[in-house]
Amino acid sequence: MAIIAVYSAKGGVGKTTIATNLAWCSAQGHARRTLLWDLDMADGAGFMFALDDRRRRPARSLFAGDIDAHALIQPSSYAGLDVLPADSSLRELDSMLLRMGQRNRLATLGKQMSRHYDRLILDCPPMLNELSAQVMRAATLVIVPLPPSPLSARAFDFVVEEIRRHTKRPPPILPVLSMIDRRRSLHCEALAANPAWPWIPMVSAVEQCAVQRRPVGAFAPSSPAAQSFARLWDGIERKLAKMAVRSPVAA
Ligand SMILES: Nc1ncnc2c1ncn2[C@@H]1O[C@H](COP(=O)(O)OP(=O)(O)O)[C@@H](O)[C@H]1O
Ligand SMILES: [Mg+2]
Repeated sequence: MAIIAVYSAKGGVGKTTIATNLAWCSAQGHARRTLLWDLDMADGAGFMFALDDRRRRPARSLFAGDIDAHALIQPSSYAGLDVLPADSSLRELDSMLLRMGQRNRLATLGKQMSRHYDRLILDCPPMLNELSAQVMRAATLVIVPLPPSPLSARAFDFVVEEIRRHTKRPPPILPVLSMIDRRRSLHCEALAANPAWPWIPMVSAVEQCAVQRRPVGAFAPSSPAAQSFARLWDGIERKLAKMAVRSPVAA
């Protein structure tokens, strides 16, 4: 099982959009048993997949060990894709993790889920705290969405530095230019400066995901946006396969 964290210390950069669309690509395009785990109390993933938000236990209870993950996990409308939704109880998660003093609590929970899933995709809150440190220690791969701006390179360096600070063996980090409009010269410059970085176009089809409450691949499969998410996930699968060859135990 691989844990793919979609992380940035900034909000509004495309984390939830990328996490939800990649989770769909993983389950539907690659037939991976996939769990999208929302760690941001805004519950973007639950909203995007139009989950039923009644009769839920507080998401925080999972970390406390009061309940099993299956008490919270809900199936999506797509085969192979489940969602572990967030809620406002996660507001206290950081202080709770610090009090518990278990530096790898998230990694332990992730490991428990590996019996049921091939891919765990974490939609992270825009924070630099104990939770983000635990995410970095648990992740097989970290995806960092970067809107094309001169500030993005700085933001990326910052995340790389943070990951190094919190982990003995830092996971690979994959920057993704998250909202590219090739009519804008600044965006073209960002693409030219980082030719190896994957990118997602800034288009209304992607905005529509939150309106339709479906991943773009589900309602516009041949759109450039759907294809760019599919390509991004193909690249991630290739990267994971290479990592598994290099380190069979970690795989
Ligand atoms: N590629 C894109 N094209 C157009 N709009 C986008 C794109 N990516 C994200 N957005 C929009 O930007 C806003 C922030 O995205 P979101 O994924 O919620 O960011 P985050 O999770 O980092 O806060 C949302 O309104 C979303 O619809
Ligand atoms: Mg979000």
